[in-house]
Amino acid sequence: MSVLKLYEYPDEVLRQKCDKITAVDDELRHFLDDMLETMYVDKGCGLAAPQVGCTKRMIVVDPNPSDEDLSARRPMYLINPEIIWHSEETVFFNEGCLSLPDQRADVERFEKVRVRYIDYNGIEREILADDLLAIILQHEIDHLDGILYIDHLSRLKRTRLLHKLEKYREDCKRNK
Ligand code: NI
Repeated sequence: MSVLKLYEYPDEVLRQKCDKITAVDDELRHFLDDMLETMYVDKGCGLAAPQVGCTKRMIVVDPNPSDEDLSARRPMYLINPEIIWHSEETVFFNEGCLSLPDQRADVERFEKVRVRYIDYNGIEREILADDLLAIILQHEIDHLDGILYIDHLSRLKRTRLLHKLEKYREDCKRNK
């Protein structure tokens, strides 16, 4: 497995609407494995294909991406994931994104979602997700339509966050 290059805001690839996948083959599985490896290395709990420069509808998630206890990991691969039902209730969750390093903000999401997807072996499945998994799935599926979590914020909050991101990047450069 190899670690893929991560694309960050404001890269255009993050704004593309991704294409449906028509065949699950070894090449695709290999790419999914690389995505998962990249997610763990960068300490994320979800990663969508456009974040590694690929505009196809696939995501990897793990609500418990533990480094200490590898047996606690629960990786999931979702191809062509689609929200087919959501609860009326919503919750706020403090989200981050590997494409906007070091930033977080409260985002309103549905409390529960039912997602239909194709798994690693090409089999169609459904999952009813709640808690953290429901949040991650909504965040990652958004990526496949070119939507970032900052798009759910008020203009003021988004502008503030992007200023902080700019400052963070300047600090990183300075400390190199
Ligand atoms: Ni993200």
